[in-house]
Amino acid sequence: MAEYETHEHDVLVIGAGGAGLRAAIESSAHGADTALICKSLLGKAHTVMAEGGIAAALGNVWPDDNWKVHFRDTMRGGKLLNNWRMAQIHAQEAPDRVLELEEWGALFDRTKDGLILQRDFGGHRYARLAHVGDRTGLEMIRTLQQHAVHKGITVYMECTLVSLLKDGDRVCGAFGYWRESGKFVVFKAKAVVLATGGIGKAWEFTSNSWEYTGDGVAMALEAGADLIDMECYQFHPTGMVWPHSVRGILVTESVRGDGGVLRNSSGRRFMFDYIPEFFKKETADSEAEADRWYTEKKNNRRPPELLPRDEVARAINSEVKAGRGSPHGGVFLDIATRRDPETIKRRLPSMYHQFKELADVDITTTPMEIGPTAHYMNGGVRVDGEGSATAVPGLFAAGEVAGGLHGANRLGGNSLSDLLVFGRRAGAYAADYAKSVKGPLPVAAGRLEALAREALAPFDPGGTENPYLLHQELQRTMQSDVGIIRTEHELRRAVEKIGELRARLKRVRVEGHRQFNPGWHLALDLRSLLVCAEAVARAAIERKESRGGHARDDHPKPDPAFAKVNMVVRKDGEALRVSAEPIGEMPAELKALLEG
Ligand code: FUM
Repeated sequence: MAEYETHEHDVLVIGAGGAGLRAAIESSAHGADTALICKSLLGKAHTVMAEGGIAAALGNVWPDDNWKVHFRDTMRGGKLLNNWRMAQIHAQEAPDRVLELEEWGALFDRTKDGLILQRDFGGHRYARLAHVGDRTGLEMIRTLQQHAVHKGITVYMECTLVSLLKDGDRVCGAFGYWRESGKFVVFKAKAVVLATGGIGKAWEFTSNSWEYTGDGVAMALEAGADLIDMECYQFHPTGMVWPHSVRGILVTESVRGDGGVLRNSSGRRFMFDYIPEFFKKETADSEAEADRWYTEKKNNRRPPELLPRDEVARAINSEVKAGRGSPHGGVFLDIATRRDPETIKRRLPSMYHQFKELADVDITTTPMEIGPTAHYMNGGVRVDGEGSATAVPGLFAAGEVAGGLHGANRLGGNSLSDLLVFGRRAGAYAADYAKSVKGPLPVAAGRLEALAREALAPFDPGGTENPYLLHQELQRTMQSDVGIIRTEHELRRAVEKIGELRARLKRVRVEGHRQFNPGWHLALDLRSLLVCAEAVARAAIERKESRGGHARDDHPKPDPAFAKVNMVVRKDGEALRVSAEPIGEMPAELKALLEG
């Protein structure tokens, strides 16, 4: 019999980034005994890496801004695949969530009048991102964490959960292990909120940190939840490309938001060559007009560098492919000739230090070399628009792990507002749901035994496969065959390769013992990563068009046949099945907003 300790709570929140912290705060405020699980240490979740700001139509810089314009921008950015109800709630509630964060102690940058300062970002009609220099995520986590610990929430650190537990159809807890001791732990709970973030570690070049291995996505899928829009994975246009050891690290969109421009090897500001028809009306087609954007009222048009991320990432990709890239396979991001050194250091302190320390480049005098990097799961676990409930009773999801809000492409800054708005909602709805569940909570001993056996399998002496090599092969496959531009042939090759890796993972072998064993942790993480990677590749095969984050060389245009469907992935035994399902009709009053 495997040994495991047991803890019991009303609500279990898995993941302690912004969404998890905000959900735990709300659940606790609703009277639920709430536990928060951190894969890392509290305060070290990936949200701290979020740089540019929180999108919210506060109207502090441009009084004409309001939720309706934010809703419109979000839907247009998402190429209308978004769950419109989520986009509406998000735009309406984001300002209150930002003000609440300020009340809880977040120190935002200020306008001359003392209001929260807002900056420009791609796809947003107005300067809309509340920020703290280029370290907004850090301030957000600091504030939420401080607030959460005063609520009496129980925090469990360095704990990885590998499976949800169910009682019949409904979720009743989760099973996992302590990273330090390797011992098993069972959490019984009446409701579970997933806030585990994304799947970026499936790619070779990624802005994501080590925790981003798709644990929540895989657990939800296994428990019976649906995934949507997995094919629309987001590549951020600007990651570091040099030195190779830091390739992929985020270079915030704030550089472009604050006036930075993209240039190719001949110094040409090439984004003027890539303005798509869909955004022609709102994008400047001359340098003079583009530059007026930053200083004049917004009756002019946005610089092409501030097109949505999918457009900019593809443009950079094309320049590099055409042989007009930088020495290390990117292009140049130039803020040095656009803003004075003092402004750059004040507005972009992290970028200044990041390039100085990691690449020995002074961004106040020298352009940065950048290129696209795997960044964000636009899709994820399907939730209902109001309360973030998944298809599995008792299971909720918020933040990056949840799909719907962003449609085919997320606008920068909408992730931080997403996790505040829907973290709060998920916490509230989970706490209310928990009240309806009667204890005691059952745990099927046989199920725990099976989970323990599976988790320990990598220690079996018969195995031959090395988890690090499997991970490397997966990352290379995703980078080359499920990257920014795809073809059916490459996607099918990727599915085949992932299948092979899944089979080989059954023969994985790790050395040593259970105490803090990174090889073992990776072997377990790979189970999730491989399922997520397969979901992306299979959904990408089925969407035979190009839309948002999903671009096909063999179907280079949007196809009206796919304009109003989500690709939904479900588990069927060991197999993943994809079906195209219609998006619910948008009410007329919201449709009217899209025309403005
Ligand atoms: O570019 C950035 O600062 C990233 C922001 C985001 O992904 O929302």
